[in-house]
Amino acid sequence: MLNRRAFLRNAAATGAWLGVGMSGPAQAQTEGLRALAMRRNLAYGCATATDQLKDADFASALVREAGLLVAEYEMKRNAVERTRGHYDFAGGDALLNFAKAQGMALRGHTLVWFTSNPDWLPEAVKTSRDETLLTAYVNTMVRHYRGALHSWDVVNEAIDPTAGRSDGLRPCFWLEAFGPSYIDLAFQAARAADPSARLVYNDQGCEGGTEANHKFRAATLSFLEGALKRGVPIDALGLQGHLQAFGPPVDQKKLRVFLENVRALGLRILVTEHDVDDSGGSRDSAVRDQAVADASRRFLDVVFEAGGVDAVLTWGLSDRYLEQAGFLKFAPRRLPLDSALKRKPMWQAMARSLAG
Ligand code: G3I
Repeated sequence: MLNRRAFLRNAAATGAWLGVGMSGPAQAQTEGLRALAMRRNLAYGCATATDQLKDADFASALVREAGLLVAEYEMKRNAVERTRGHYDFAGGDALLNFAKAQGMALRGHTLVWFTSNPDWLPEAVKTSRDETLLTAYVNTMVRHYRGALHSWDVVNEAIDPTAGRSDGLRPCFWLEAFGPSYIDLAFQAARAADPSARLVYNDQGCEGGTEANHKFRAATLSFLEGALKRGVPIDALGLQGHLQAFGPPVDQKKLRVFLENVRALGLRILVTEHDVDDSGGSRDSAVRDQAVADASRRFLDVVFEAGGVDAVLTWGLSDRYLEQAGFLKFAPRRLPLDSALKRKPMWQAMARSLAG
């Protein structure tokens, strides 16, 4: 047990007392992002996979820091319905059981996406144009997890303004077979399967500071306005939150206006896959860590200011399970904990942002 002087020195160095109140060393030192988020009435969590839960040190860090989990890949259709009509819920169920045992929640990701589908699906959709290939899957998944999940990413990454369509949608086999209404079908099927489920449209292009991101925000807003006008049951926008430490910074003013417009539609906000790519910058990991932290805070400060935030998730908790360094590449440092599960400047930045 640290004595008070040692704790203060340690806390000052790690910033562990960041606005979380010095209510005793034990709590300030061990308090995780989970507790800090709860103070703002929102959940903090991260993506994970069942094989990561076998790592006891990682699992205890997960329980300390996260109150909400999402399957990195085990609840996607290429993991669930590898063979047509045969559902493998094992991965999702294992994650749900772990979350429940630890007093955490689990969110579903994702029901309808243009990729990560079993090999048989695109051809079956194209040849049959049978909408039940979409609606029956959504119905089966949402019913299986009925009442058990925090929220569902019903449709993922359906927007791509660079494709040049007037509606800004991403060409894909779903769009080719059913037209833009495939998105409506997905949300209506999810709502019918679980009227209490929180249904999220999730995408990755609204955060950044480039002209392309500005076009993405415009296309997303237009899509959401149209869908809600048609009565499509979308409850929230999922901002994936994949940022770049050494790329164009988040345009806080444009992001703020965008989020105000999204909130004005009556939608809630989730940050669903936050991480900060630290490639393309310094060789010095301390410089990379600080740039990652700065980018995270610039983004989260604006998100929290907009209000209506239900959850913030990072796309992983620790660098330990990111792809390892390749030739002349550095091991990525995109997440709040390093590969030894130590809190990084990104953790401090998120804690400061959560503490307001
Ligand atoms: O399928 C094997 C499984 O059998 C094996 O046990 C496991 C062992 O690690 O690996 C699995 O392989 C791959 C898995 O990543 C490993 O993590 C899957 O085949 C592969 O599809 C999967 O890729 C995922 C990718 O989405 C496609 O689904 C990534 O983990 C995941 O990080 C990435 O996440 C996406 C979001 O869903 C949407 N937004 C972008 C984000 C990053 O690309």
